[in-house]
Amino acid sequence: MKEKIRQIEESAEKELVNSKNAKELDDLRIKYLGKKGELTQVLRGMKDLSAEERPIIGGIVNKLRDKLEQIIKEKEQQFEIEKLQEKIENEKIDITLPSTKVKRGSKHPLNRVIEDIEDLFVSMGYDVVGGPELETDEYCFERLNLPKDHPARDMQDSFYITSEYLLRTQTSSVQARVMESNEEKTPIRIICPGKTYRREDDATHSHQFNQVEGLVIDENITLAHLKGTLEVFVRRMLGEKSKLRFRPSYFPFTEPSYEVDVSCFKCGGSGCNLCKQTGWIEILGAGMVHPNVLKMNGYNPEKYGGFAFGTGLDRLAMFRYGITDMRYLYKNDVRFLNQFSQFER
Ligand code: PHE
Repeated sequence: MKEKIRQIEESAEKELVNSKNAKELDDLRIKYLGKKGELTQVLRGMKDLSAEERPIIGGIVNKLRDKLEQIIKEKEQQFEIEKLQEKIENEKIDITLPSTKVKRGSKHPLNRVIEDIEDLFVSMGYDVVGGPELETDEYCFERLNLPKDHPARDMQDSFYITSEYLLRTQTSSVQARVMESNEEKTPIRIICPGKTYRREDDATHSHQFNQVEGLVIDENITLAHLKGTLEVFVRRMLGEKSKLRFRPSYFPFTEPSYEVDVSCFKCGGSGCNLCKQTGWIEILGAGMVHPNVLKMNGYNPEKYGGFAFGTGLDRLAMFRYGITDMRYLYKNDVRFLNQFSQFER
């Protein structure tokens, strides 16, 4: 019996130490220590031994079992560490490999123009405000000195939703809202960029377009303030050499009113196809706030005056980037939009 145990010890020890992986180790554990394992068989045979031999053999077998279990434990730990090392090895990142290029989007030309205008006016102390695109007739027209049936309403083809609600045709609607909601009737200095809607659609007009409105209300505001402000604005947007020309015009909410032209930035004023040989391009509507508008929105026209201006952002973007059809701005064709990443600041 002792000889048998010695043989088991010898072969088990050798095989266990030489086992190459967890699976092999487990098979060996079953082979020797499992229910039908070789060492277990020895224990079963003990019943045939004499009473003196039994404890001696039992002791030897138990010691051997402890020893084998100890070897198994150590091997298990060894395999565990090897597995971890292999995993770390495989997960190594080769930082010398060239990376895949991250695709960057680019800002929409309209947003570039809007952000530039906002930066400029904020630097001059203006607030940027928004207003609803679904507007009431009251704020879009009536409070701007355009009562119902006023012929000047024909200047803007409107999308009416009901008889009271329409898609705003101009950001001037925000003038009225800001004046009215300013309860203390303190001075105002705002710009309002936003979407506007009119019933038109061709290469230079879209049914939805963008405007920015400017409004300043204070004591002692003169036409010189308006001219100076627009000069700064236009030079910043279209080039330092730009010259302005004020032509008398009509808007119901301003008096006097002007259409403002800028010297053609393509030909410098000598005449080309962009300015239709005139040397000038019309870009803005502007004027001194009409006393009726001040009164209707709670400001005393004896004390306060102001100026307002409005311009189409789409046209500005077209001029700035040489875009030939306004509808490109709304089609979101990536081939078109990608071209603007070169202007990234
Ligand atoms: N709201 C006018 C338009 O859309 C432009 C404008 C704004 C004119 C402010 C004068 C003052 O045509």
